[in-house]
Amino acid sequence: MINRRQFLYLAGAGAASVMNFHGLPFAKAALAASKTTDFSPDVELSLTASPSEAQIFPGRPTTVWQYNGQVIKGDSNSLMHLDQSHLGPIIRVHRHQKVRIHFNNNLPARSIIHWHGLHVPAKMDGHPKDVIPTGETFTYEFEVLNRAGTYWYHPHPHGRTGHQVYGGLTGLFLVTDAEEEKINLPNEELDIPLVIQDRSFNRDNQLVYLPRGMHDSMTGMLGDIICVNGRPDFKLSVRTRAYRLRILNGSNSRIYKLAWSDGTPLTVIATDGGLLEKPIEKKYVVLGPAERIELWADFSKYPVGTSLELVSKYFEAAMLEADMGPRRGMRGGLRLPNGAPFSVLKIDVDKKETETRSLPQKLSEIERYQRQDTDNADSPRQFSFFMRHMHGLINGRTFGMQEVADDERIRLNSTELWELANDDRPMGMMMMPMPHPVHLHGKQFQVVERSGVLHSGYVDEGWKDTVLLMPGERARIVTNFTDYKGLFLYHCHILEHGDMGMMRNYLIT
Ligand code: C2O
Ligand code: CU
Ligand code: CU
Repeated sequence: MINRRQFLYLAGAGAASVMNFHGLPFAKAALAASKTTDFSPDVELSLTASPSEAQIFPGRPTTVWQYNGQVIKGDSNSLMHLDQSHLGPIIRVHRHQKVRIHFNNNLPARSIIHWHGLHVPAKMDGHPKDVIPTGETFTYEFEVLNRAGTYWYHPHPHGRTGHQVYGGLTGLFLVTDAEEEKINLPNEELDIPLVIQDRSFNRDNQLVYLPRGMHDSMTGMLGDIICVNGRPDFKLSVRTRAYRLRILNGSNSRIYKLAWSDGTPLTVIATDGGLLEKPIEKKYVVLGPAERIELWADFSKYPVGTSLELVSKYFEAAMLEADMGPRRGMRGGLRLPNGAPFSVLKIDVDKKETETRSLPQKLSEIERYQRQDTDNADSPRQFSFFMRHMHGLINGRTFGMQEVADDERIRLNSTELWELANDDRPMGMMMMPMPHPVHLHGKQFQVVERSGVLHSGYVDEGWKDTVLLMPGERARIVTNFTDYKGLFLYHCHILEHGDMGMMRNYLIT
C-alpha cells in the first residue's frame, strides 16, 4: 500500500530539488481513543494521515500524503469523498453539532491538524506546539459554532506546514445551518467543491517542493501545473442548471484572479465565513492563499455543447522578475510566476435540464461592525508584515512558539480594530516586495477599511478569516474576541512565509 522506495531527484540546475513524500515504515496508530467524560459528540470521526499514492498522470503514480477518514459515530454523510482525488475527505456538519475527531498521525513526521476558519477553543485549534509524533493520536472535541460556510483543514507543524500541505494534506470542512437551508441553494450534485492548488512535478511524476531553495521560500512555492481537487486539466460536465461552486485557494503561495472566459461576471454569494447578505457581481475576483469564495454559476443560458473556462487573468506582481530562472527536468517546465494568466478548469455544458431555482436576492443576515463599534476605534492595533534577511516578520518580530508580546494581549469579550499593513519593500534581488495574505486563527472578522489598494477584485463584504494584502496595501479589520481564552496564531498564509517565521501568537485573557 505504501511506496517505501527511497526516491531522489536532482534538478539539473544548481539548487537541488526533491522533497520526498515517500513512506517510511512506522507504527499503525490505534483508532481507539482518549475520551473525556462530559462531552457527548453528535459526530465522531477519524482522520488518518499517511503516505500514499495517487494516479495523477499516466504511468508512475505520484507519492502523496493523504488524509483518510472514517465515520465512527453519527450521520454517515458527515464525510464525503471526492471522486478520484487524494485530497482529504470533506467533513460536513450542521451548526451546533458536537464533533469528536481523532487525528492519527501515520506520517514520517510530526503533525497536527488546524481547522481553518473555525471558532474553537485554543487547545482544539491545532497550534504548532501541539504537534504529535508518528504513531500517535490527537483527539479534538468541539462544538461547531460557526455559521454555514466553506471552511477547511490542513496541517500546522511549525516550519513544515508548507511541505505537508503541498504533499496533499488539505480537506474541506463544510458547515450548514438553518439560515442557509431556508434559501434552498443548489445542493447535492449541484454543490461542487473546487480546491485550487498549483504543483510542480518532475518527469517521474513526483512532486517537487522548493526546487530553488531559499528563492522559492521567499516567493512562496509556485507550481507550474494547476490542479483542482488534486487533478490537473480538471473538467466539469454540467447541465443547464444553476450550480453552487465552492472555491478554496488551497495553494501555498499563488494568487488567482478568477474570471469566466466569456466575460460573464462572477456572481459571488459567499466568502471565507459564509454567505454574503446579498449576491454581488464581480468582473473578476482576486483570491489569495486560504481564501474562499462561493459562486452562483447559472449555466441555463448556455446551449448544450458550450465549453467555458474558469481562468486566472494576468495581473502585475512585483516578484515577476525575480521568479524567472531555469528549471530543467520538470514535467511542466513552463514558468508560471504569480500573475501569469492560465486556465483553471474547463466546463462542458452537456445536458439540457429545466432550472427551477432563481438566485435569492437576500442570502443571509450579517451583523455589521463599524470602526466606531470597537473598543479602540482611535488607536487600532498595528501589525506590520514584511520580510527581512530571509525572515518573515510581524512588527519586526519572528515566530516564537509560545511568545506573546504586550501588543498581542487581548481582553476576552473585547471588540477590536486592527490595522494590518503589508510593509514589504524591495531590498535587492531576493527581497522583492511580496503579497501577504494575513490570517487570524480562531475568529472571523470584517474588513472595514482598505488603503493603498492595488487590485479591485477583493470581496470584503462578508465575514473573512484571511485578507490579502499586496505590497503597500493595508486593511482595517474588526473582530470581537468572544467565548475562548488562550493562545491563537495570526500569520501570513503564504505557507513558506509562515514557516519562515511570519507568524505570531495573540493571547486572549
Ligand atoms: Cu490555514 Cu494557521 O492556517
Ligand atoms: Cu487558520
Ligand atoms: Cu507573506
